[in-house]
Amino acid sequence: MTPGERARGLLADARRVVVFTGAGVSAESGIPTFRDALTGLWERFDARALATPRAFRTDPALVWGWYEWRRTLVGRAHPNPAHHAVAGIPGAVVVTQNVDDLHERAGSADVVHLHGSLFEPRCADCGEPWPLPTDPADEPEEGRRLPPPRCARCSGPVRPGVVWFGEALPEAALERAVEVAAACDLMLTIGTSGLVYPAAELPHVAARAGAAVIQINPQPTALDPVADVNLHGPAARMLPSLR
Ligand code: OAD
Repeated sequence: MTPGERARGLLADARRVVVFTGAGVSAESGIPTFRDALTGLWERFDARALATPRAFRTDPALVWGWYEWRRTLVGRAHPNPAHHAVAGIPGAVVVTQNVDDLHERAGSADVVHLHGSLFEPRCADCGEPWPLPTDPADEPEEGRRLPPPRCARCSGPVRPGVVWFGEALPEAALERAVEVAAACDLMLTIGTSGLVYPAAELPHVAARAGAAVIQINPQPTALDPVADVNLHGPAARMLPSLR
């Protein structure tokens, strides 16, 4: 039996499916991943200078401008066949590390965001949600600094609603993710390097609880040993071929 046939069989037999995704699932929508050579975001920018609470305190306009550029990029992008294939798995719970909204736009009804969202900014001081502007006229370009808006309630600086290095994951999202990982009979892990914890623990949680694990990634990853089936290829090609 080929790995593809094995994966198709596991998917056809599974009743409770969790789909765990990382930046690779959105790569074919034109959103750069983090660690891929040359195209990865972290190769082109110093992550530590952008994705930490300290960076935001030190240079809020640099950080806010970078996230607004990423939000614009995502706004212009479209879900790809991988997002659509995931949305077509009946009853699947999607647990994503991505801060984009492409799973939702493809039609996935149950999406858990472990690392927050580009679309939920809030006050850095009091936590008040900040309504995103609906007028796309002032879309930032890559590398442009942009002072963050001020909170309407306390005038604190508005920050992106994402999880930064050194910050805790949203408690309810992490709890739900662990719960569904421990209760599923199949986990698909797609397009993640499996290097960032606690998110990367989830395939291990599923495997320990007896679930089968299928991984889709063009490259070997830290999660290879935990996967029962490793499908090496791009998600937008591999996922639709499983149905
Ligand atoms: P990474 O950039 O670490 O990994 C992306 C993975 O996607 C790599 O393993 C690639 O081989 C794979 N990949 C690339 N193109 C692909 C394709 N077409 N189809 C399938 N896979 C493909 O991104 P993540 O694992 O998501 O956290 O990174 C995890 C976290 O690290 C992110 O959520 C972010 C970052 O720090 C925070 O910002 C808190």
